[in-house]
Amino acid sequence: MPAVRHVLVIDGDALTVTRARQALPSMEVDAVATPPQALERLVGSTFDVALLDPAVVGGDDDHALAVLHRLRTVAPDTVVVIWSVRPTVEFAVRAMRAGALDVLDKSAEEGAIRSVIERASTHGALSREVRRLRGEVERARGLGEVIGESALMRQLLAVIDRVAASDATVLIVGESGTGKELLARTIHRIGPRKDGPFVAFDCSALAPSLLEAELFGHEKGAFTGAGRNRRGLFREANGGTIFLDEIGDIDATVQNKLLRVLQEREIKPVGGDRPVAIDVRVVAATNKDLKSLVARGHFREDLYWRLAVVPIQVPPLRERKDDIPQLAAHILARRRGAAKTFAGQETRYPTAVTAKAMARLQAYRWPGNIRELENVLSRAAILCDGETIRSHDLDLVGLDHPAGAPATPSRPDTERIELPPIDLGRLGDGDGLKDITDRAVRAVERAALAAALRQERNPANAAKVLGISRASIYTKMKAYGLSVDGEPSS
Ligand SMILES: Nc1ncnc2c1ncn2[C@@H]1O[C@H](COP(=O)(O)OP(=O)(O)OP(=O)(O)O)[C@@H](O)[C@H]1O
Ligand SMILES: [Mg+2]
Repeated sequence: MPAVRHVLVIDGDALTVTRARQALPSMEVDAVATPPQALERLVGSTFDVALLDPAVVGGDDDHALAVLHRLRTVAPDTVVVIWSVRPTVEFAVRAMRAGALDVLDKSAEEGAIRSVIERASTHGALSREVRRLRGEVERARGLGEVIGESALMRQLLAVIDRVAASDATVLIVGESGTGKELLARTIHRIGPRKDGPFVAFDCSALAPSLLEAELFGHEKGAFTGAGRNRRGLFREANGGTIFLDEIGDIDATVQNKLLRVLQEREIKPVGGDRPVAIDVRVVAATNKDLKSLVARGHFREDLYWRLAVVPIQVPPLRERKDDIPQLAAHILARRRGAAKTFAGQETRYPTAVTAKAMARLQAYRWPGNIRELENVLSRAAILCDGETIRSHDLDLVGLDHPAGAPATPSRPDTERIELPPIDLGRLGDGDGLKDITDRAVRAVERAALAAALRQERNPANAAKVLGISRASIYTKMKAYGLSVDGEPSS
């Protein structure tokens, strides 16, 4: 937490600003006299607390509350305390409902003012910390589902991590089954739009005439069968991400429309005349070579560049065979989890592969990439003895023998390779999700507790700041191994 707290006083009266400075000698206090100045100062700033005198708004209570709401929106990390001459209880209640943390009477003693502002700034620091940790957990969890330790995948994941934090349009290119959709979802889930919708659509699934209306919506009666207004997927994805799969398959009309959408950030429903503004991140994917489509005049070059602001090339599985053991472990652990959920009890599921079978998995070319690996493994898992997938089981599911290396029946098919253990907590389903949530809650709670103890240097006061009882703060300190000053107790 920063040592010096930063306070913005929004007050037209120079005398009370001086009073605030006197009451808060250890804090940095700035002042502005009008709401527009306040908004300008607060955007992107690091003020811990804003002290708002509703009188500067110059209207009735509703106006003051509207300004309060604006402040909270532009600067969610800054705590707002209302500071007013003899505030009424009714106003105080409405202000706190509208997001003010506290209401102060300007004529209160300096000590009372100080303690309210100190408490408010601690509260602000804690909620920032919670937000930061929550983001970290989300990011760890999002990337955790994408398996890949090979050099190629590590590079790719580093790019995904960075690009997710931005709002840039992304074009994912890769063969079928390489994980394009998984990566698109990951970009959404670990990025700033994660709380918004993720709308995935396969552009090759509809005839061009219908595709346009599906994406951009249509007005009632725009064409035969358009019985009522349709919002379209872009509007459904508003505030979130739209994933346009098989983008190489869209025809010239839809290409033109899409280019306009990306340039203007607005859509025009079919048969409508008024454009509608949209706020959508676009992630597109294709397994075609878009550049050669451009060269042959089948895909607009300007649209290509608009889409490929950040191009991401997903390597085929045969170029990262090092990942196969880890992927096999992940796929089998996931299936095991699913089998358990369906059957409601432990089912026998393989946890090992023979050396011979693994050699075959790594030698095969995998034209269908990870999706094909999933199919092969889940069928082999059903056919095997319940513990180990053998080369023989791969024969049963029809996996080709590597070219030039005919089956060698002489080599025994018994040596087992235990699959690397998979932390189910990293998977996004079933029991795994609960684990992740529990861990996230614990991490956040421990951090909040430590921060409050460091700040207050006294468990009873820290309990008050956190809004928990004295008894429970001692229990929690013990559970998390924290001493009275918030440091780990060894
Ligand atoms: N790196 C990875 N780690 C774990 N699982 C993966 C990974 N990549 C892909 N998968 C899994 O492989 C399957 C195929 O992935 P996905 O559907 O994202 O591929 P795609 O490139 O969109 O395929 P298609 O071109 O066939 O639509 C999914 O079940 C996905 O969860
Ligand atoms: Mg796909």
